[in-house]
Amino acid sequence: MWKLVKQYLHFALFGALLMVGEVLMDLIQPGIMRRIVDDGVLGVNAGGTGDLRLVINYGILMIFLVIVGGLCGSFNNVFVNLASHNICNNLRKICYRKIMRFSFPQLDAMGTGPLITRMTSDINQIQMFISMMVRGMVRTLFMTVGSIYFMFRLDVQFGLIVLAAFPLVAGILGFFLMKLTPRFMLMQAQLDRINSLLQENISGIRIIKACVREMYMKIRFGEANAAIVATQLAIMTLFAFIDPVVNIMMAVLVSVVLLIGSADVAAGTASPGAIMAGITYLTQLLHSILMMIMLFQGISRGRASIIRIRDILSCRSTLKNGSYVPSRPLEGRIQFEKVCFSYPGDETDTLKDIDLTINPGETVAIIGSTGSGKSTLTGLIDRFYDVGSGRILLDGTDLRDYQLEYLRGQIAYTRQKTELFSVSIADNIRWGRPDASMDEVRQAAQIAQADGFISEQPDGYETVVAEKGKSLSGGQKQRLAIARTVIKNAPVMIFDDSSSALDLTTESRFYQALGKYNPGSTRIIVAQRISSVANADRIFILDHGRIAAEGTHRDLLENCEIYQDIYRSQIGDEKIL
Ligand SMILES: Nc1ncnc2c1ncn2[C@@H]1O[C@H](COP(=O)(O)OP(=O)(O)O)[C@@H](O)[C@H]1O
Ligand SMILES: [Mg+2]
Repeated sequence: MWKLVKQYLHFALFGALLMVGEVLMDLIQPGIMRRIVDDGVLGVNAGGTGDLRLVINYGILMIFLVIVGGLCGSFNNVFVNLASHNICNNLRKICYRKIMRFSFPQLDAMGTGPLITRMTSDINQIQMFISMMVRGMVRTLFMTVGSIYFMFRLDVQFGLIVLAAFPLVAGILGFFLMKLTPRFMLMQAQLDRINSLLQENISGIRIIKACVREMYMKIRFGEANAAIVATQLAIMTLFAFIDPVVNIMMAVLVSVVLLIGSADVAAGTASPGAIMAGITYLTQLLHSILMMIMLFQGISRGRASIIRIRDILSCRSTLKNGSYVPSRPLEGRIQFEKVCFSYPGDETDTLKDIDLTINPGETVAIIGSTGSGKSTLTGLIDRFYDVGSGRILLDGTDLRDYQLEYLRGQIAYTRQKTELFSVSIADNIRWGRPDASMDEVRQAAQIAQADGFISEQPDGYETVVAEKGKSLSGGQKQRLAIARTVIKNAPVMIFDDSSSALDLTTESRFYQALGKYNPGSTRIIVAQRISSVANADRIFILDHGRIAAEGTHRDLLENCEIYQDIYRSQIGDEKIL
């Protein structure tokens, strides 16, 4: 963070200098006011006759000082904003890059809502914090020291009064700061919760409505909202007590100054103008103390946000990148050796002792009930997660040794959950390979059996897909996702339950076309339907994270009870052979 600040430090420093100028103008004015009263109006040193010329001259000087002070203030604002916005802009970029590099377990652990709050609200807080530090902090510090100095110059007694009151003021400020920081931390955490809920609710609004769970979600949201209101109220209550405390201090100090001052005037050791100036300095001083309290609110808020952003910046991605990039094209041999895996925080193994070898050019299928670990197993090949124990080899080299970008470039993966982006259909397909030509996009769509429905869209391939693909049916989305995988033309292709919404004819047409298009590739097909897997070279049956059986469709049909059961359960409504 310091590096970022350093980059724009010159703006900030220049801004601070201008602020010093503004404060200086404010500090000089009471002195001139004193001259106007004592020399111009009362003529204290000239035997009681005032001088109008002096009043006019000093008046013009005062106007000039106000203008200079105002200009300093405006330019200070400009420079401080330049610094704070630029710093936060870069901070946001750095955080974004950092988040993009996080491993999936880290993203799971942090959650989307909290990450969004940090990238938006917390960074805004930091921007305000910087601005406040440079503007407010410089102002209050300089103003405090300056007015104390001028108080001493006016009258040593005035200065001493102020100094005596100082420890008390500092104590009160410390107390409030101590109470406020944890509450601001809590408030940001509660904002996280609201953002998480909002995200879930808005993206899941169809399901919420379909299941008539609006009331339930309303209550959950209401609770999160009530929690943040309670914290805000606690903070505001603290603030409500700060103002009167400072006002009381102000009243007491002004009375003491008046008391001592009037005695001095009576004794002839002080002039009325000096007392006026003294009270103005005192007011400025107490105003800057009040401002300091406001600043402390900003500082404790800013500190809470800085801590939360530091969490992101200091978090090292647990996903280690390798460096191996083979010189020859991959063959696509995949070996699992005694692979065990469990999700972070999960005690049971999701995958247990997986041993399997998939040969180059082979098409294997994985079938098994939901939750048996099929998506987990295929995800390991793309290094969504790393194995707990054992290892996975691609062409004889551990996946973790490969350069990650290279590895993922060699694997075309259709995930079970279709993700589309709100760009054109062509660009959604090109997502797999951005440099693909329009002809290649069209070819991929044809293989994925998507060309037909795309042509019927209002703008064909240029039709923009609605957010998360809401404008398309489940099967259409799946086919676009398949086309995106196909266009990658990679040595390893994985289809995780990605043709489940296609009818059998379309599905088999797709597999036939794929076989012709990319015959040498190693293909892994995850499916629920026997018909989707029957043509594979080998079929693995996954059961509770273990490989229960393997073989061809014929073998399994003859020897494997689980497979026979699946077969029997599906034969009723589908023609399989
Ligand atoms: N991100 C995750 N965090 C924790 N547990 C998960 C996660 N994804 C899946 N699981 C669990 O792992 C098991 C296997 O899931 P999965 O591989 O998706 O099964 P399948 O694809 O065969 O339906 C399930 O019990 C599921 O609850
Ligand atoms: Mg799955």
